[in-house]
Amino acid sequence: MKLVITGAIGHIGSRLIRELPSRFPGAEIVMIDNMMTQRYPSLFNLSDNINYKFFETDVLSTDLVPIIENASVVIHLAAITDAAGSFDKKELVEKNNFFATEKVANACCSVGTPLIHLSSTSVYGTQNEIVDEDCSLEELKPQSPYAETKLREEQYLVELSKNDKLRFITCRFGTICGVSPGMRFHTAVNKFCWQAVMGQPLTVWETALHQKRPYLTLDDAVSAVFHIIDKNLFDNRTYNVLTDNLTVDSIVKYISQKIPDIKINFVKSKIMNQLSYNVANERFKATGFIFKGKVEKSIFETIELLRNSNTITR
Ligand SMILES: NC(=O)c1ccc[n+]([C@@H]2O[C@H](COP(=O)([O-])OP(=O)(O)OC[C@H]3O[C@@H](n4cnc5c(N)ncnc54)[C@H](O)[C@@H]3O)[C@@H](O)[C@H]2O)c1
Repeated sequence: MKLVITGAIGHIGSRLIRELPSRFPGAEIVMIDNMMTQRYPSLFNLSDNINYKFFETDVLSTDLVPIIENASVVIHLAAITDAAGSFDKKELVEKNNFFATEKVANACCSVGTPLIHLSSTSVYGTQNEIVDEDCSLEELKPQSPYAETKLREEQYLVELSKNDKLRFITCRFGTICGVSPGMRFHTAVNKFCWQAVMGQPLTVWETALHQKRPYLTLDDAVSAVFHIIDKNLFDNRTYNVLTDNLTVDSIVKYISQKIPDIKINFVKSKIMNQLSYNVANERFKATGFIFKGKVEKSIFETIELLRNSNTITR
C-alpha cells in the first residue's frame, strides 16, 4: 500500500505520518513538502523500519503523476494556512492553494487515485444558529481570502468529478487543536495556550468571546483520515469534520485550570463578524465515525509541552 501526503511536515501532516504506519503496517509513506514553513523537526526521529520517502519539492512545479501512480490515496494537506494573514497575500494564497489542489486533483484523475481534500469550516459565515453541508450558497460566506480559495477548490473538484473519473472527499475541518512535532500557533486554541504560558494577554477578537466556532482535535483529525481510507469513503461529497463547537470563553476557562490569572486584550480582526453558529457534524457521524477527542485534553497537552519554557506554569 502506498499513501501520498502533500504538505506532510505541517501541523496535521507531522502527526499523520507518524500514525499512518501503525494503522496501515507495511505501507509506503510518500511525503511531499516545499519546506515553505521550515518545519524541519517534523522529520526528526521518525520510527525505524518504516518505508518513508520524502520529496522536498513544490506541488506546483513537480510532475506528480509518477509520485502518485499506484497510490491507494492522496491526502492533500499542502496549503498556505494562515487565514488572518491571507488578506495581505490574497493572490499568493489563490495561486498556491487553488492551483496546487487543481494540480493534485488532475494527477489523481489521470492515475485513478482517490483524493482526500482538506477544506475548512471557515467557508461558513451563516446567520443561522446551526449550519450543515446542505446549506444554501448564501450561507457560505468565506471569512477570508484563504476561505474563499477553499470554497473555489471545493467547487472545482465537484466540476472535475462530473466530467472525469475523480473520486474524492472534501473534509471541512474545524480549527485544529492538539500537539504535533510540526504544530503551528496561528489559530485560536494553540495561540491562546502559547500566550498564556508566556504570561502574555490573550489576543481575543472583539466579537469572539461568546461566539461559538467549530474545533477539531488532532486525534479526531487523524482518526477521520483513517476512517475515510478504511471505509473507502470517496463519494465526491463534502463533510464537516469537527469535535465540538465552543466559545472562546470556554477555551479560556480550560486554559485557566492550568494557568490562573489570564488577561485578555480585545483586538480587531478582518475575519471577525457578529455571528455565532454551530457547525453540524452529523453527516460524518452517519458514516459510522465517532468523535472521541476532547478539546480540553488538547489544551492541557499543549500547555504541558511548553511547561518548562516559562516559570509561570510551574
Ligand atoms: N490547522 C487547522 O486548523 C486547519 C483547519 C481546517 C483546514 N485545515 C487544512 O488542512 C491542511 C493542513 O493544515 P496544517 O494545519 O497542517 O497546515 P500547515 O501550514 O501546518 O502545513 C501545510 C504544509 O504545506 C506545505 N506547503 C504549502 N504549499 C505547498 C506547495 N505548494 N507545495 C508543497 N508543500 C506546500 C507547507 O510547507 C506546510 O508544511 C491545509 O489544507 C489547511 O488549510 C487546517
